[in-house]
Amino acid sequence: MTPATKALDARKLRADFAIFEQTFAGKPLAYLDSANTSQKPRQVLDAMTEFYETSYANVHRAVYELGERATAGLEGAREKVARFLNAPSAREIVFVRNATEALNLVAYSWGLSNLGAGDLVVVTELEHHSNFVPWQFAAKQTGASFRMLPLDDQGELDLSGLDELAREGNVKLVAVNLVSNSLGTINDIAPLVRWAHEHGGVVVCDAAQAAPHTRVDVQALDVDFLAISGHKMCGPSGIGALWGRSELLHAMPPFLMGGHMIHAVTYEKTTFGELPAKFEAGTSPIAEAYGLGCAVDYLEGVGLDAIERHEHELAAYALERLADVPGVQVYGPPADRRAGIVSFNVEGVHPHDVAQILGGEGVCIRAGHHCCQPLMAKLGVAATNRASFYLYTVREEIDQLVDGLHKARSIFA
Ligand SMILES: Cc1ncc(COP(=O)(O)O)c(C=O)c1O
Repeated sequence: MTPATKALDARKLRADFAIFEQTFAGKPLAYLDSANTSQKPRQVLDAMTEFYETSYANVHRAVYELGERATAGLEGAREKVARFLNAPSAREIVFVRNATEALNLVAYSWGLSNLGAGDLVVVTELEHHSNFVPWQFAAKQTGASFRMLPLDDQGELDLSGLDELAREGNVKLVAVNLVSNSLGTINDIAPLVRWAHEHGGVVVCDAAQAAPHTRVDVQALDVDFLAISGHKMCGPSGIGALWGRSELLHAMPPFLMGGHMIHAVTYEKTTFGELPAKFEAGTSPIAEAYGLGCAVDYLEGVGLDAIERHEHELAAYALERLADVPGVQVYGPPADRRAGIVSFNVEGVHPHDVAQILGGEGVCIRAGHHCCQPLMAKLGVAATNRASFYLYTVREEIDQLVDGLHKARSIFA
C-alpha cells in the first residue's frame, strides 16, 4: 500500500450490495461480520445467474458447445485466481470447497506421507482451527512432534524461540496465517518462512483472511502452499482454492478419489490424472468457481490497495471509538498492524449477550471463540466479540455498534 493509493468510496460500493437495502427492527443494517463471511455484490450474483441460464453443463466431459462454454467458465476462473495470487501456473490452483478443505488436503496428502518420528510440525498460537487441528491430527498419526509458536502481549508472533525449537527435531512443516481472524494481526511471516526453508521445511500459509483484504503474492511470500475461501472475498460459498508448488503437488498422492481425477482404471490398478485434475475428484463446483472468478474481477476493479487502506482507516476509527466506551477491553495490535478486525469484551457482559443486544439494533457481529480456542486460552477468556469490516463498511456502522454497546452496558449495569 502506498500513500498515493486512491481511496475507495464505500458508500458508492454499498449500492452494489442489495443486502443493505433492508432494515432490521427499523434500523439500517450494520453488517460487521465480514471476517465470518462477506456479502455478495450484484456483479457476482448476476454473472452467476447468467452463467446458469446460458452456459451451464458439466465440465471436462461434454463435447457439445454448452459443455465447452461451462469448461471455459471454470478454467477461466482458474486463470483469474492464478493471476490474483501471482501463481506461476494455473495448473497449481486446485479448486476445493473452502480454506478448510484446502488445508486438510495438504495435511492428509502431503502430511501423512511426509511426516514421521523426529519431525517437527510447527503451528502458531494465532491459528484458526482449520490450520491447527489438521496438523495436530497429522502429527499424531505419523509420530511427528507438534509445537506451537507463542504470541507476545500485542498479539503478534514471538519468533525468539526458533533457534531453540530447531534443536528439538527436523523442522518439516510450518503452518501460519497471514491475517488472524481473531485479532486482525497482520503477520510478517517472512522471517518464519526463511527459518523454515533454511531447515528444509515446507510452509503452509492460511490466507483465508488476507486474500479478501490485501494483495497476496505466493511468489513474493515464498510459501509452499496457500489456502483461500471464496465466500470471504465477495464470492459464493462452496468454493475455495489451494495453491501449491507444482513439484510438491506432483509428488503428492490424491486426497479424494473417484471420477475425473484418474488417468486410467483397471481391476488391478488406477493411475492418476495430471494437475490439477488429480486433486479435483467428482463434479466440480462449476458455477461457484465461475463466481469466484467474478469476485476476483470485482475486487481487482475496486483495487486491493484501496481496500486495505479503507480497512486500516476503519480499524483505527473503531479503536478510537471503542476507547470511549467504559469497560471495553480490546485485544490485538495497534491499527497500523491490523486488518479490519477488532475483537473486544465488555466488562460484566457475556459476549453472546452483547451480540444479541446488538442484533436487536441491526448490528451483526460475531461472538464466540472464533475457532481459535488455543488463542482464547492465551487471552484467558472463553470468547470475545468481534467486529469486522470490508470494502462496503461505512463509519456510521461503527457508530451504530458503539451506540449498541452503550445500550448493552446500561442493560447490565
Ligand atoms: C484465518 C482463517 N482460516 C481458515 C478459515 C476457514 O475458512 P472456511 O470456513 O471458509 O474453510 C477461516 C474462517 O473463518 C479463517 O478466518
